[in-house]
Amino acid sequence: MTVQDTKLQTLADELRAHTGRFTDKQFDWKAFPSNVGFDELSRAQMRYIGAGGSPKVGDNTTLKPDNFTLSLIYKEPGKYAACHSHEIEESFLIIDGALIVGWEKDGDVVEVNLGPKDMILNVREIGHGFRVDGVEPVMMSISVDVGKPLPPVYHYHPKEHPPELARAFGAQPGRTQVFDRTSSHPLQQLIAKYVVRHSELKTHWDDAGFSRKIYCGPGGVEVDTCRKEMLGIPSRVGVKPFSRDVEDAFLVLEGSLTVGWEENGEKVEIELGPRDLVKTPAGRKHWFRNNGAGHATVWYIVGSGSPELVKFEAA
Ligand SMILES: [Fe+2]
Repeated sequence: MTVQDTKLQTLADELRAHTGRFTDKQFDWKAFPSNVGFDELSRAQMRYIGAGGSPKVGDNTTLKPDNFTLSLIYKEPGKYAACHSHEIEESFLIIDGALIVGWEKDGDVVEVNLGPKDMILNVREIGHGFRVDGVEPVMMSISVDVGKPLPPVYHYHPKEHPPELARAFGAQPGRTQVFDRTSSHPLQQLIAKYVVRHSELKTHWDDAGFSRKIYCGPGGVEVDTCRKEMLGIPSRVGVKPFSRDVEDAFLVLEGSLTVGWEENGEKVEIELGPRDLVKTPAGRKHWFRNNGAGHATVWYIVGSGSPELVKFEAA
């Protein structure tokens, strides 16, 4: 069922149509035309909201984006993504594995190794690439804003550059630096503002009984598009219905989460497991609760970078 072109009869139908189930979806190994013919660039994409960096915007199994897209990317050891840039903001949240992300400027490259629950926000127009040097594949969630969905501009694609230069994101030998927050190099200082380590982020305990780590937006990395948080929701904790003037989305990383919608006094619910998502449109009353025995870890995106206006109340 698609949100775009289906007349939905009931609130329950509508909630189901705004749900992306991991097991209903498939990874697409042909999402990125620029990778065709380059085995070392291969990666698979699973689209939840919009097309992300892929030109496959007509995929009607994905949810229609408003202010952000969300997809999963799977990449195997030894593979990389060539250095490119966009005129949009793009975040990488690592779910499994370790990912090297490199930023390039004037032939210098800074490489940072990101682990599970770490994030980087790739700022507009900065050359960036990524590579899996570890022994296990990487699963990550990518979100971009939908301002101007132009194709990426490649800076060091193996089509035009020697393979070793492309794999190093454009760094000649000796021009790669390991990420170092204390370095005075301008590129190190720039990337340091956009690397988020889960272990370094303050844990805020919300009065409603769950924890929040603010990745993007006021309190986290400065953005002008979307707020991004990681929620930790203990067993049997939930919140009362709330609504926003923009859309939001819950992507479950661990445990399970029940998401509910309310309209004209009618209430419907759906339970999400790992890698399931619900996108709630602007204006819709909704809530969440963890009915499970274990805690839930949830990636939460709100379609605006402005300060939080919702005051959550324990249900
Ligand atoms: Fe990118």
